[in-house]
Amino acid sequence: MSTAKLLLNGNDFELPLVVGTENETGVDIQKLRAESRAITLDPGYGNTGSCTSAITFIDGEKGILRYRGYPIEQIAEKASFVEVCYLLIYGHLPTQDELAEFDEKLTYHSLIHEDMKKFFEGFPPSAHPMAILSAMVASLSAYYSTTDDKRDLNIIRLLSKAKTIAAFSYKKSMGQPFIYPRNDLSYTENFLHMMFAVPAEPYVVPRVLDKALNLLLILHADHEQNCSTSTVRMVGSSQANLFASMSAGICALWGPLHGGANQRVIEMLEQIRQDGGDYEKYILKAKDKDDPFRLMGFGHRVYKNFDPRAEILKKSAGEVLTQMGIDDPLLGIAKNLERIALEDEFFVERKLYPNVDFYSGIIYRAMGIPTEMFTVMFALGRLPGWIAQWKELVEDPKMRISRPRQIYVGASERPWVPIEQRKAMTEKKPELVTA
Ligand code: SDX
Repeated sequence: MSTAKLLLNGNDFELPLVVGTENETGVDIQKLRAESRAITLDPGYGNTGSCTSAITFIDGEKGILRYRGYPIEQIAEKASFVEVCYLLIYGHLPTQDELAEFDEKLTYHSLIHEDMKKFFEGFPPSAHPMAILSAMVASLSAYYSTTDDKRDLNIIRLLSKAKTIAAFSYKKSMGQPFIYPRNDLSYTENFLHMMFAVPAEPYVVPRVLDKALNLLLILHADHEQNCSTSTVRMVGSSQANLFASMSAGICALWGPLHGGANQRVIEMLEQIRQDGGDYEKYILKAKDKDDPFRLMGFGHRVYKNFDPRAEILKKSAGEVLTQMGIDDPLLGIAKNLERIALEDEFFVERKLYPNVDFYSGIIYRAMGIPTEMFTVMFALGRLPGWIAQWKELVEDPKMRISRPRQIYVGASERPWVPIEQRKAMTEKKPELVTA
């Protein structure tokens, strides 16, 4: 077996290598501290692998994204979201019968317990739907046993009820009555039905919206060890139940640097539009170190050439707007921002390209989904990925609780000071000692 050699404090250490399917190489440091007393330090984990996984492969330099080995471009063109849920969670493309059985289970578990409707009465109309989604998902463990023998049933319950909770949170914000799921509709049609139907008149789900929603959910379905997925694994490693682990993932996704970016992108484009459409002014702001403004929807920790999802969504945004006869000025502003940024040294040098969040909001907007629900839509898409990653973790016989180490840079030992002897101390934070 090939190894990596480390010379530390005059001692040689040999560290085993782990080589992945696509020849990615990991230096296995599981025994490093026991043998050398040293640990590695990698704030933000940009160079640190937390696990081996067989679910999703990303090559950031080449813009490759595959779910269980299938290229995202082919999946986006040929699959349904329910099929992708099955593929990610169970590891293979379902047969006709497997898919029909899975789909039927998802249909028959769409309702939430009637008592859970009362939760919505406690939220103010202005409650952010991510607050509602994370609270309601965690609360599912109050209604359903989470023992291991219920794992597959709870996966079905979660996948199916999350879309109902999301739609109910929208109706709550609109002051409209909840619309119950129908058993004759597909997963995506049911969500759109619960979102946009009203009791007074029948609602036929537009084909273009159903197709766009399928695509959006598929493109968000998994993305290896991103911030929210790593959170799900961190929480799941303590043997917290499925619903608690997913609720933690929803909260991590909410941040504007992560899934919350799709909401911020539309707010940014709207700000530029209201500011006369002067997108060049905002390019300058994004480049100005003293300006906290960032070009939301741009940049990625892994993709350093292009995000394949953004490429697909850019094309879909144009198609959806055309088919719906919508002329959204924000699309033009987005395309101009992208064009200018891709020619600008600041962005090129830092390898900043549009990511999945840059165009997705344009499509959600065209579908009539309010901006505050965009991150909920991201969460609905990412749910099968979080579930697949959680399942892979908890079914690993070698699973251990995740507990990173640290390098302490605080005060060295010092005696307690009685309060009467204390004076206002302006403590200077010690500089991190670097080798
Ligand atoms: C998602 O990890 C995943 O896979 C996430 C995701 C998934 O599917 O799960 O793909 C989904 O979260 C997409 C990212 C959504 N977030 C945004 O669009 C927010 C805007 N983007 C950034 O904040 C940033 O690009 C991140 C958070 C996405 C990546 O941050 P990194 O890798 O920590 O990069 P960084 O902040 O260290 O930036 C490197 C340089 C810095 O400049 P210098 O200090 O080197 O001079 O690039 C600059 C940054 O200032 N920079 C930007 C920028 N993003 C980075 N400058 C202006 N605008 C930006 N958007």
